[in-house]
Amino acid sequence: MSLKEKAVLVTGGAGYIGSHTVRQLVEHSASRVVVLDSLERGHGASILDPSVKLFTGDIADSDLVEEIFTAFEIEAVIHFAAYTYVGESVAEPLKYYRNNTAAPLTILEAMQRHGCKQFIFSSTAATYGNPVSMPMTEEHPQQPINPYGASKLMLEQIIRDCETAWGLRAVFLRYFNASGCAPDAAIGEDHDPETHLIPLILMAISGEREHITVFGEDYETPDGTCVRDYIHVLDLANAHLKALDYLGKGGSTVACNLGTGKGVSVREMLTIAESVTGTKVPVIYGERRPGDPGELVADSARAKELLGWEAEYTDVRDIVATAWKWMTGPAKGRYANVKR
Ligand SMILES: NC(=O)c1ccc[n+]([C@@H]2O[C@H](COP(=O)([O-])OP(=O)(O)OC[C@H]3O[C@@H](n4cnc5c(N)ncnc54)[C@H](O)[C@@H]3O)[C@@H](O)[C@H]2O)c1
Repeated sequence: MSLKEKAVLVTGGAGYIGSHTVRQLVEHSASRVVVLDSLERGHGASILDPSVKLFTGDIADSDLVEEIFTAFEIEAVIHFAAYTYVGESVAEPLKYYRNNTAAPLTILEAMQRHGCKQFIFSSTAATYGNPVSMPMTEEHPQQPINPYGASKLMLEQIIRDCETAWGLRAVFLRYFNASGCAPDAAIGEDHDPETHLIPLILMAISGEREHITVFGEDYETPDGTCVRDYIHVLDLANAHLKALDYLGKGGSTVACNLGTGKGVSVREMLTIAESVTGTKVPVIYGERRPGDPGELVADSARAKELLGWEAEYTDVRDIVATAWKWMTGPAKGRYANVKR
């Protein structure tokens, strides 16, 4: 019998979605929570609970990964660590394939060596590419249109091959648009550069940016602007706990979309943000960006059926309100502003 402490390893646990998930894990999991994050794009200050063991380093560092698997009995890995900018992936594809596809092999190799067979993977709607049907189920063709989506799809395939070879079991959580922050505003979203719509709108409202640019108003959508499915980060975090439970009960490898199933257009989001904050948004309209589909909305029925998961934040106003609270609270939307 192993005398090592049982733990769940969270890669990228100091990032936006990772830190919200770590917080929920600490509250609900019987196992120790161990984070491995380079802090290149994350924040040590987003890990609030002192019981969480943070290893600062790269997932591709095989010595460090081995140290973690030797020190703890890792029962499951939740893998968030990745680069996440579509535009950057187009400009620097090799950087994305190295970090998002190749680097996780070090984790998978350690899992195989140590007999850890449960893996939860932050996959993405970007693995689908241009939609051919709406809402999108997990059976939708996966034809990514940028290296970011392709780098994630390749890892899905690698994981399936590991399942065949040595019995790894995984849940691919294909998130749609992660948004919102912890309602107590103790942690939040702090990306640099910021590319997500809700924080960009709120930054334009708070004066941190001059305006928000809407890319394209001639899409075949009801008001001509892009429609997306915004899913609250706490709902995403909760799905990881449910996925752990599913794998713990012997569940086999599966992909699950995570969204609310409700599309919100950019124009609708501007109106909602104005109403939540009581302030007008300075907007300019630009051309469409290449590679932006008009509409992306999830069918998350499978997550409900297999994981017992459903989004609780179904009104996007509540999502915007939590993001606004983070941006107007002591942190002003930036971890550097918080003294801990
Ligand atoms: N934000 C979204 O809307 C969204 C949508 C779909 C999928 N995802 C996926 O969810 C995951 C988390 O996204 P996020 O928005 O929280 O991103 P994030 O950038 O805030 O978090 C990623 C974390 O991973 C760390 N990291 C990156 N490469 C690393 C490496 N090689 N070794 C160690 N740590 C490393 C970063 O420092 C960062 O803390 C990513 O895998 C992303 O692709 C995000």
